[in-house]
Amino acid sequence: MHASLKTRFAAELPAVETALARAVSEMPASVKPIAEHILQAGGKRLRPLLTVLFARLLGYREDDIYIPAAAMEMLHAATLLHDDVLDAASTRRGRQAAHMRFGIVPAVLAGDALLAQANALVAHCGDCRLSACFSEATVRTAAGEILEIAYQGRVDQGPEVYTQIITDKTAWLIRASCEMGALKAGAGEETLTHVRRYGFELGKAFQIVDDALDFAPSEKTGKPACGDLREGKLTPPLALYRESLSPAGRKDFDALFTSKEADAHAIEDIGARIRLAGFDAQTRALATHRLEEARAALFALPDAPERSVLEQMIAHVRDREN
Ligand code: IPE
Ligand code: IPE
Ligand code: MG
Ligand code: MG
Repeated sequence: MHASLKTRFAAELPAVETALARAVSEMPASVKPIAEHILQAGGKRLRPLLTVLFARLLGYREDDIYIPAAAMEMLHAATLLHDDVLDAASTRRGRQAAHMRFGIVPAVLAGDALLAQANALVAHCGDCRLSACFSEATVRTAAGEILEIAYQGRVDQGPEVYTQIITDKTAWLIRASCEMGALKAGAGEETLTHVRRYGFELGKAFQIVDDALDFAPSEKTGKPACGDLREGKLTPPLALYRESLSPAGRKDFDALFTSKEADAHAIEDIGARIRLAGFDAQTRALATHRLEEARAALFALPDAPERSVLEQMIAHVRDREN
């Protein structure tokens, strides 16, 4: 991570954490342990940082920016609680996934509670544009997760469907994190267009890189390795691998991909082949033009110090290892 992005992260994090801790402390006793489990496990806090950076870039100086910033992290955490149930994932942020520790029903309902609490924080900002932005991101995220599940175990998922999935399940929330900061700063429509474009393209690139990182060791990511293969998600590394196979090899792959109980050794073997052939690295390269779009949008915005930090964010998303 570039030095000034790192410095800015370090400078903003304490206030984000304080706002998060305060919000969690106000949650009902049945929800609190689950909310703490996910929120105290770390996480990069990328979304709240984006909210703060855009607010500051556009001239907003008040400390209450940490409230909508924390709300975006709470919404994100809620989607992670739900996502790990959908993906049958056993680990998250280097810990046991919440649904494994607390049970599926409590984890799902705690996700709902976190989401609603985040909504309340945004409502208290007293600006219906912020509430609308937050709600739209919530709806789109759910829609993306549903679409992804609809294509689970299917090899007929084309690139347009993949783009739709990543746009909805990931990019909307990242876009909204940027937009919330700009809205707080009272940005006009033209400025908002550039802010949204940056967030949208950064968000799509973020998920493409995440799909490459799915093949990285779990010690690095804090998440299970090869989860997308196990769960039948035809992400770019898997689509590239599948295309590289002979007809017979493809038939075997399809049988494994569509089966509900694939053999762990077979999964590891394919994961190793994907890394060896560099299909994960090729996937990262697919994010490049998105990141260039994000950069172009950013350079239509004022030349304040935060702009170079947001530019470093682009490089960080491209190169990130976790
Ligand atoms: C994970 O997001 C979910 C995706 C959209 C890929 P992050 O990679 O930002 O997860 P944390 O917040 O750092 O744990
Ligand atoms: C992330 O999708 C999208 C949401 C959490 C809504 P993934 O399923 O790829 O995210 P990870 O890899 O579990 O973090
Ligand atoms: Mg997942
Ligand atoms: Mg993933």
